[in-house]
Amino acid sequence: MLTKLAIKRGRPIRNKPNPPWPFVSKEEKQAVMEVLNSSVVNYHVGNKGKEFEERFAHWIGAKYGISCNSGTSALYCALAAIGVGPGDEVITTPITFFADGLAPLLNNAITIFADIDPKTGNLDPNSTEKKISSRTKAIIPVHLYGHPADMDGFMELARKYNLYIIEDCAQSHGATYKERMTGSIGHIGAFSFCQTKIMTTGGEGGMLTTEDPEIAAKLMSARNIGAQTLYRDGKFQKIGGYSRLGHNMRMTEMQSAIGIAILKYHINEYIKKRRENSAYLSEKFKAFDFISPAYEAPKVKHTYYAYPARLHLDLLKVNNSQFIAALKAEGILVREVYSSPGHTQPIFENLKNYSKYRSPWRASELDHRNEEYPNLEFYKKKTILFEVHPTIDKEYLKDVVAAAEKVGEAYHK
Ligand SMILES: Cc1ncc(COP(=O)(O)O)c(C=O)c1O
Repeated sequence: MLTKLAIKRGRPIRNKPNPPWPFVSKEEKQAVMEVLNSSVVNYHVGNKGKEFEERFAHWIGAKYGISCNSGTSALYCALAAIGVGPGDEVITTPITFFADGLAPLLNNAITIFADIDPKTGNLDPNSTEKKISSRTKAIIPVHLYGHPADMDGFMELARKYNLYIIEDCAQSHGATYKERMTGSIGHIGAFSFCQTKIMTTGGEGGMLTTEDPEIAAKLMSARNIGAQTLYRDGKFQKIGGYSRLGHNMRMTEMQSAIGIAILKYHINEYIKKRRENSAYLSEKFKAFDFISPAYEAPKVKHTYYAYPARLHLDLLKVNNSQFIAALKAEGILVREVYSSPGHTQPIFENLKNYSKYRSPWRASELDHRNEEYPNLEFYKKKTILFEVHPTIDKEYLKDVVAAAEKVGEAYHK
């Protein structure tokens, strides 16, 4: 029905290639070639990895940066470093990339979900508190789409119940909460540099940030095959031997060189552009009654990994999937929020035997598929994600507004 309507309403608003993301700058290409030409390509041998870690931590406002090969690895290492293991529970949000649901399981612990704040889409500290048990070891709030989670709320829970807070900053590079960058507030920050992210180190990559040298040493060990690493006499020392489970999750020197180039030449401009593009859409969307601009809470800086607008479905004849399909038919880059949340994943059924060999859990404790999260349902039903990445220009944004107006009018009640 919608395709027909879109065709009936004439030519699409936009009929040309959309602005690409990621964009690989000349500085990044040059940096990679320099590393390749030097033949020093491995983290242990070169110094790019260490330089990238230092620069990134400095930019975030954290003491230590520990690079790794993905955001998923970063979350795995974070939980490993704080000693999460069999018998432990980790609480996270159901609405995120599934790496957050998976990281506790990879550490032989279990994942517990809690509901979200319907305004920001982020894990809600009140709902989280209700899920805390004597077995809870950590909470992973995700700064969803670049909007910082309620870090005061989570740090309060950490103090009250003696828990660790692992910030998932995969989507929030440069976002701030009360003037502090995400990744510098909790016990550990976990970043992804995978290709769609605010910055990418050549398609994959990750970083951990922390203030605590003891935790930093364990993170270094976990991402490096469990090689014993200690913080002694004010420095990190590899003392030989292997003391914990770990994998080889190191970054290459080429990836680190790309990261350094982005930090040196582009990151501030990338974030500025995302915020400018978002401000433009927010201003224009104010003129429409069927869509609300993306929410930005007081005292935070949203960095808009995606721009989450809200549809007023009571004023529309269609649901958000149909609205999105119609916008796509107009040539606009737009998508729904995660359509299959963490608690619904088939892995929880497939883990029936998990408890037998990995952990003291009963299968029923692992399985979350029948749980209900009303705020999540509300958020999912009404949110629509626009792209605002740095290569997006005014012409594209004008098309977005024109397409939203066209679709909104066509389907207005
Ligand atoms: C919120 C969130 N957490 C974790 C990850 C995992 O990162 P990666 O894809 O680098 O493993 C992603 C990336 O897709 C993400 O968006």
